[in-house]
Amino acid sequence: MKSDNACTEIVTEIRDRILRLRINRPEKKNALTRAMYAAMADAIARADDDNGIRAVFLHGTADCFTAGNDLKDFQAFRQDGNNKDVSNFLATISRAEKPIVAAVGGVAVGVGTTMLLHCDLVYAGEGANFILPFVALGLCPEAASSFLLPKLVGHKCASELLLLGEPLTAAKACEIGLVNAVYPDAEFIEKAYIQTKKLVQQPPASVRITKALLKRPVSQYIDDTMAEERKHFSERLNAGECDEAFTAFFERRKPDFSRFD
Ligand code: COA
Repeated sequence: MKSDNACTEIVTEIRDRILRLRINRPEKKNALTRAMYAAMADAIARADDDNGIRAVFLHGTADCFTAGNDLKDFQAFRQDGNNKDVSNFLATISRAEKPIVAAVGGVAVGVGTTMLLHCDLVYAGEGANFILPFVALGLCPEAASSFLLPKLVGHKCASELLLLGEPLTAAKACEIGLVNAVYPDAEFIEKAYIQTKKLVQQPPASVRITKALLKRPVSQYIDDTMAEERKHFSERLNAGECDEAFTAFFERRKPDFSRFD
């Protein structure tokens, strides 16, 4: 077993030829900072380069996968325009060569849900909730979700999730194909790890080639969509609607968008 504590909020460990990646910032509901994105991207890239690793296993704390992008970091972006850690993480997870298995418990907000569209297997605890509040925050979809989500669930369902930001239960997420299976909250991490171990026992080159073939038909669309989304996302972050949404969150009140055109 090896461990790496460079970023204490992303805990990595290699065991059973699996790179385990745990999001560990419970006091902020595992909200992702730039340093956390960078640590996750490094870990996934390392897994691709290391013949000793055959799969990546990603999870949060038992009651929270992640509350998505740190909203204070979004505010920092508005000042320095630096979003490279997020972009690099999304490019890395979307192009990863080794299979990625995610175990989701509690809330998976924003990128906490969209990153799952790039994972190969996703398992959830029965209390998990998936929320895409981009529009409510004055933002727009990212991580190629404006392409991958309607492709997975159809336009109507994607509109409900993205335009209205309606939460998705674990059972519904399983029904629409975002999640492979749902387990009791006390068991989902262990069950997902068992599935990851099964992957590791498969012939590794066949696994990598099959993953690449599954991704190949959509990879160009993913890159194009991310580039388009990134442009709008950066503009939205600097718009007044977003200002109001973030201020309202930290003031613990409902946002008021009545003055916007
Ligand atoms: N960025 C920064 N801080 C966050 C955060 C985020 N995305 N999500 C939660 N936090 C912080 C809260 O500010 C709070 O900090 P404090 O204790 O210093 O006040 C702490 O985490 C706990 O959050 P709280 O809202 O009290 O927990 P909850 O259990 O009532 O609700 C969530 C959990 C995830 C539903 C709620 O925190 C939430 O909606 N967060 C924002 C999610 C979001 O919009 N993400 C961006 C997606 S693009």
